[in-house]
Amino acid sequence: MFGAGAAGLTAVLAGCSTYEQPSQAVPGPAASTGGSSASAPVAADPSAAPDAAALAKTADIPVGGGKIFPAEKVVVTQPVAGEFKAFAAVCTHKQCALDRIADGMIHCPCHKSQFKIADGTPVAGPAKDPLPPAKITVTGDAIALA
Ligand code: FES
Repeated sequence: MFGAGAAGLTAVLAGCSTYEQPSQAVPGPAASTGGSSASAPVAADPSAAPDAAALAKTADIPVGGGKIFPAEKVVVTQPVAGEFKAFAAVCTHKQCALDRIADGMIHCPCHKSQFKIADGTPVAGPAKDPLPPAKITVTGDAIALA
């Protein structure tokens, strides 16, 4: 499967053999550079990922807990065995990056808001809105951003 994809990419690159605008050559259908002028203060749009990007293995996500992926601004949780949830890892109060998961809660370091790992509902602190859900896919033991 990867061989065919690599061959296809090679063919595409070979077709672009004239490099008149090397910095503008952005292969692939998801060149969404024009949509980056988001007015939202946080990256609550995990769909901005160019493709289904591998994020983690299911074994990386503890049952009854979760894991924060700061680069992707996503938190993946596993409230019960085999059930994975994902949310934007940005506090809905003042947009601080959520920094840890403990006791079934996702914690914000700024003003101590806490969100349930099961559904992102705020249960403590000043945050009033739930964490926006993020889209993931679980294929076998691989978790990817959808
Ligand atoms: S920014 Fe998270 S509690 Fe204020």
